[in-house]
Amino acid sequence: MKTYLVTGGAGFIGSNFILYILGKYKNVKIVNLDKLTYAGNLENLTQVENNPNYTFVQGDICNKKLVEELFEKYNITYVVNFAAESHVDRSIKEPEIFAITNVLGTVNLLNCAKNAWEIENGFKKDVKFLQVSTDEVYGSLGPAGYFVETTPIDSHSPYSSSKAAGDLMVKSYFDTYKMPMNITRCSNNYGAYQFPEKLIPLLINNCLHQKDLPVYGDGLNIRDWLYVEDHCKAIDMVLSGGRSGEVYNVGGHNEKTNILIVNSIITYLNENVDKEITDKLIKYVEDRKGHDRRYGIDPTKIKDELGWFPQTTFEVGIDKTIQWYLDNKQWMENVTSGDYQKYYKKMYKEDKLNK
Ligand code: NAD
Ligand code: DAU
Repeated sequence: MKTYLVTGGAGFIGSNFILYILGKYKNVKIVNLDKLTYAGNLENLTQVENNPNYTFVQGDICNKKLVEELFEKYNITYVVNFAAESHVDRSIKEPEIFAITNVLGTVNLLNCAKNAWEIENGFKKDVKFLQVSTDEVYGSLGPAGYFVETTPIDSHSPYSSSKAAGDLMVKSYFDTYKMPMNITRCSNNYGAYQFPEKLIPLLINNCLHQKDLPVYGDGLNIRDWLYVEDHCKAIDMVLSGGRSGEVYNVGGHNEKTNILIVNSIITYLNENVDKEITDKLIKYVEDRKGHDRRYGIDPTKIKDELGWFPQTTFEVGIDKTIQWYLDNKQWMENVTSGDYQKYYKKMYKEDKLNK
């Protein structure tokens, strides 16, 4: 029986991944290690909380003793590292916590995995460290071309630079020790359970409360959107079939300008919820500092090698997503009702003290 150590499993993609894996396989165990920052929410996992194959551990990926104990207690086959500070705007204001979690936390996980998995002449059979990374490490594209796995790293924000540094540490464990690993670099995800600081759930939430819809700069920045379940499926396929040491880009050629996303959400909510939700809510605001203009993934490698393809088109996925937030208004209320700024500041202070 394979045992997954999923880190950051109470966040957006991590919780979708746990639900996907436990729905697909009956003979696996998942240990979910999550610090429960403002972005982590156990409500995302109520469906599996009593599943005997699922265990939740509240804790920090930077905590060496705790991670060592988890490797001693559980016979871990895979580490799937989702845990991260994930929001670009926050990284611009508070870069240090991004370096602590996204770089030092990753190194701690790598080191604990290496110590637990290394045997004479190599590593235990079937083990793998999978780093869940992002297309943002490649920087920004002009109007033409796509990111391929060999595109040079050219990250710009403190968030993407911390992810790039984490990726390079993962690569170094393969290059130096031959520790089995993969890195996935996915484009922008959307779907259920995304914290409403990110564009799509933020827009839905603001529309429902008749609040301004902040559009950074000219609204013409382009992101390449992927339905979260397609990302989960890609991670599953890379874990079982990815060639060790390789990077796999994940994306479904769904490039959209931000203003198109804004207008799609307004249209859906105007037609289905409230005629008062109109483009009058749009407010162009100051641009994000260092705002990357365009992301676009070339997924040829994962398609050709592993047979991955996105199942959900943007048109279907965006409607399903908006409807999910409409059906789960209480979830949105719960995650937005806490004083997150205060919580975030407290956490940041504690991390500085831990240093
Ligand atoms: P998220 O912010 O929703 O969730 C992050 C989770 O990590 C939370 O549950 C949080 O509590 C936990 N966490 C944070 N710091 C931790 C620590 N020190 N120790 C243990 N747990 C900690 O993020 P997400 O959008 O689900 O992203 C997950 C991963 O996927 C990240 O690594 C991100 O870089 C990557 N990624 C995200 C996207 C996207 O569009 N959201 C796209 C590509 C890659
Ligand atoms: O590309 C993958 C990345 O996608 C992940 O690595 C990150 O973890 C994830 O947060 C996401 O980063 P982005 O910066 O692209 O996502 P965000 O939802 O913050 O913003 C999407 C676009 O919308 C971006 O061009 C900025 C713009 N934006 C965002 C917000 C929150 C606005 O115009 N207004 C807003 O209020």
